[in-house]
Amino acid sequence: MYHPALFKGMNVVVTGGGRGIGLEVARQFLDCGARVLVHMGRTIDRERHDFLELAASEGRAFLCAADFLVPGGVESLADEVRSRFESLEALVNNAGTMVGRFAAAELTDEDYRTVVQLNQTSVVEMTRAMLPLLRKGTHPAIVNTVSISARSGGSTGSSVYSATKAFVSTYSKALARELAPEGIRVNCVSPGTIATDFHARYSSPEKLEATRKTIPLARLGTAEDCAPAYLFLASHALSGYITGQVLEVNGGQLMC
Ligand SMILES: NC(=O)c1ccc[n+]([C@@H]2O[C@H](COP(=O)([O-])OP(=O)(O)OC[C@H]3O[C@@H](n4cnc5c(N)ncnc54)[C@H](OP(=O)(O)O)[C@@H]3O)[C@@H](O)[C@H]2O)c1
Repeated sequence: MYHPALFKGMNVVVTGGGRGIGLEVARQFLDCGARVLVHMGRTIDRERHDFLELAASEGRAFLCAADFLVPGGVESLADEVRSRFESLEALVNNAGTMVGRFAAAELTDEDYRTVVQLNQTSVVEMTRAMLPLLRKGTHPAIVNTVSISARSGGSTGSSVYSATKAFVSTYSKALARELAPEGIRVNCVSPGTIATDFHARYSSPEKLEATRKTIPLARLGTAEDCAPAYLFLASHALSGYITGQVLEVNGGQLMC
């Protein structure tokens, strides 16, 4: 674990923080002293972990919900952030999912729009909305979740999802260059195959076992494996000279 005061006095937003990778990222930011607005996902009425309840009762965590597929959903989250924070040190755009596996010939217009809105457009919208607060932050940073599939192309039925992650990867690099003069760093974490609800929904146990055998470290990843990479990239003290990069967290599954 990083130093418990690494993010003391700093404001952080984590989207998709109600479960999986985002939940662990939120936990580790809280453990390092940050005030964290945790976007729990589409609803706030989900099982809450004790650490979140405790942090919320102490005024260190602010829990809210917003559906990014509903018109105005991202803006409602941005309003919530503005009502809590006057400045922002770290924005973690993490909410997203595959939505489904779609064969190219069967993909409907609605499927396409849904995958793109959730994994691509919402990142652009949230980033744009948060820039005024980030500009007021101390050594601000944006950390976006992409995916191993952005480089590998992903597996069957994930073509549009994988392409949205490649979009976010490229967008982040362009943004890193654009915002560097203002001292705002932009980087990505690219998870490999991480055991969360994500794969419980979209991959069979047999597929996951076959994948596991291709990973040099011989196991699937966990949210705990991923979270430190987010804190590292958000911290000026740890990564102040790193911007426009993608940190692959995949047990060696993809080396390039
Ligand atoms: N697990 C992996 O192997 C893997 C690999 C590469 C990249 N990733 C990426 O890592 C990120 C986190 O994934 P995860 O594995 O932690 O998955 P997860 O457990 O399914 O969590 C996904 C998060 O995104 C939120 N979300 C989904 N649909 C949403 C919507 N319409 N509006 C707002 N929020 C929504 C979820 O909220 P709800 O609870 O409301 O659904 C949840 O908080 C995603 O961007 C994913 O694409 C995951």
